[in-house]
Amino acid sequence: MIPKTLAVLTAGGDAPGMNAAVRSVVRSALALGMRVFGVKRAYEGLVRGLLSELGARDVGGILQRGGTVLQTARFPDFAKPDIQREALRQLNAQGVDALVAIGGDGTMRGAAALEGLGFPVVGIPASIDNDVYGTDISIGVDTALNTIIEAIDKLRDTASSHQRAFIVETMGRDCGHLALMSGIISGAEMTLIPEQETSAEEVAAAVRGAYERGKTHAIVVVAEGAKLHANALKEKLDKMNTGFDSRVTILGHVQRGGSPSAWDRLIAARFGVAAVERLAKGEHGVMVGLQATSVLGTRLEEVSIRKRAADLEYYRMARMLAK
Ligand code: F6P
Repeated sequence: MIPKTLAVLTAGGDAPGMNAAVRSVVRSALALGMRVFGVKRAYEGLVRGLLSELGARDVGGILQRGGTVLQTARFPDFAKPDIQREALRQLNAQGVDALVAIGGDGTMRGAAALEGLGFPVVGIPASIDNDVYGTDISIGVDTALNTIIEAIDKLRDTASSHQRAFIVETMGRDCGHLALMSGIISGAEMTLIPEQETSAEEVAAAVRGAYERGKTHAIVVVAEGAKLHANALKEKLDKMNTGFDSRVTILGHVQRGGSPSAWDRLIAARFGVAAVERLAKGEHGVMVGLQATSVLGTRLEEVSIRKRAADLEYYRMARMLAK
């Protein structure tokens, strides 16, 4: 069945670029002749019937805004089948025949549950944690990483002035992606992640090594889900004579805010169009995502005789979303 009326929601922790994705879903659905309803406050709002129709103008001026204009909510009760059935009742009452769910792994579980009850859903991955299966990158990760490295660059300034070691805690729940990436791009001495246990002694050796090599600062990135927490690590390091005095900075929710980066806006636009076009072809029960972003090798002789042209798919997309 090809849907005539879509609903769109954002759920779980907000992520920069969610608004760009909502705009993309709404504008591409309108371009295909569908009506669109926005659901306020995620699955909880869906159950309470907080749906209102959106036009092209309602999503104007939101592309560059952080957060989500649809708002979001944590709603563990959505795991209950009777609550899910109430959500379906609300969707049916409004004449909605398909849903686009934008969010992280919990959002996709909710989406899978509705799909399992026979309601067509397509998911769009958005979570700064980058722990959603089926995509190499989720909306919001790039902006969060930019926020983190901006903070670490500033911390490095003061760390160098005072010859200190900074222990910086990043978000990510039980996934080490944000910490790992920011460790690489900020030149940290050591990165602690939930997936890999690291002892305080190993960290102390890395920090001491930095001191002995004449470095004026040391940065240690600790994922919030790492076994050894940032404050516990500081206590231990302070007893181990690394050469540096240490301080802890917990970046916290600042990582979730801010205007989305160019990359996040672009994948949000692409995912929104892809989600709606899949629904328009009668496909559902899937999450759209970006895959195969590995580093590969290409023969130099081929590179030297060929050129990379602009992808005209983007031309079509740009026209469709500029309404
Ligand atoms: O999933 C995004 C995230 O920011 C995690 O990194 C973090 O553990 C969690 O949400 C915090 O949730 P809340 O904002 O509900 O405290």
